[in-house]
Amino acid sequence: MQRIVLAYSGGLDTSVAIRWLAETYGAEVIAVTLDLGQGRELADVRERALAIGAVRAHVIDAREEFVRGYILPALAAGALYEDRYPMATALARPLIARRLVEIARMEGADAIAHGCRGKGNDQVRLDVSARALDQSIRVIAPARIWDMTHAQTIEYARARAIQAPVALALPYSTDANLWGRSVECGVLEDAWVEPPDDVFTLTRAPRDCPDEPAYLEIAFDGGIPTGANGIDMPVLELIESLDTIAGAHGVGRIDMVENRLVGIKSREIYEAPAAVVLHAAHRELEKLVLPRDLERLTHDLARTYADLVYNGLWFSPTREAIDAFAGTIQPRVTGSVRLKLFKGNCHVVGRKSPFSLYEPDLATYEAGDRFDRTAAEGFIKIWGLPIETAARKAPAGPDAVRN
Ligand code: ARG
Repeated sequence: MQRIVLAYSGGLDTSVAIRWLAETYGAEVIAVTLDLGQGRELADVRERALAIGAVRAHVIDAREEFVRGYILPALAAGALYEDRYPMATALARPLIARRLVEIARMEGADAIAHGCRGKGNDQVRLDVSARALDQSIRVIAPARIWDMTHAQTIEYARARAIQAPVALALPYSTDANLWGRSVECGVLEDAWVEPPDDVFTLTRAPRDCPDEPAYLEIAFDGGIPTGANGIDMPVLELIESLDTIAGAHGVGRIDMVENRLVGIKSREIYEAPAAVVLHAAHRELEKLVLPRDLERLTHDLARTYADLVYNGLWFSPTREAIDAFAGTIQPRVTGSVRLKLFKGNCHVVGRKSPFSLYEPDLATYEAGDRFDRTAAEGFIKIWGLPIETAARKAPAGPDAVRN
């Protein structure tokens, strides 16, 4: 009997897909759900998959792998799609594809399946990532085949008593994980309409935020955030804490029209409090410690990196090469950034680092104009010279910057 491994979110389409795949292909369907920090959507997910007809349901905690293998490299690379979107959805897809392929091998299945429709980016990310990892794998996308409208899908589920509570209750299409939430459809499809309050679940409306600002001091060690306000924390917990704090101050809402890889412009709402704060802080620290030309190069590559990830090319030599580039710089991205959160805004108000190239003695207007000397020393500083000094300052160990 044919076996199909299905990426199961617990939403309407993938719930219907369990039954549809079994009926259409006479196949055994094995559901796979990854815990990527999406929270309450995971409740009863295994029971629901089995109740609908999956022969087995794997629920895997992949949060740590998501943080270490995907979120941190994207943060180090400064990857914001079209300068704004931190790519919670896009970054999760290669990880999902990898796990589907692994479980298909383990279960002796020759096909994987996902619930993506034919107009979005996620179908391409999953298809391309899976095929990059295993050329022999067959990928089935039921929602591209069954030709049912949203209403017909609901009717299909109703007729078979398929329970999909979360998706049925919401007027939007959403995707959520540790790195943020993506919201589409419904009234949001009118790009002129302001998003209604019920779109947001992680961030408070600015008018309801505290009247006093909050300060966050984020520490980085080698490009990795290690704590906030003097408290060291594992990155996973730090992301959750920052979501809570920044979300309470309304920080992290993004309303944008973006260019999908399939050639459609779409209106997207994102909520990503921790991602917005961490990208702002990381970028600021780089500005303090990187010489001018390296900072420019880093910024150029950040856009390339974001495009790659967005376009489903995570498993590519180009992405690996940019990771390697970012890896040579990150040891210097050590220090602290102070941010002020207030009614939906997040501003950097301070930065410091043992690798700072900022020299108050050179920058000051207090010491009179000794332009010749200042110009020469400033010129040397801005290029990260002298190299000797920079090399001595860099941390030792296998990851150290070697000049
Ligand atoms: N436009 C975003 C992306 O391509 C988000 C997609 C969100 N998916 C969803 N089911 N709402 O990464």
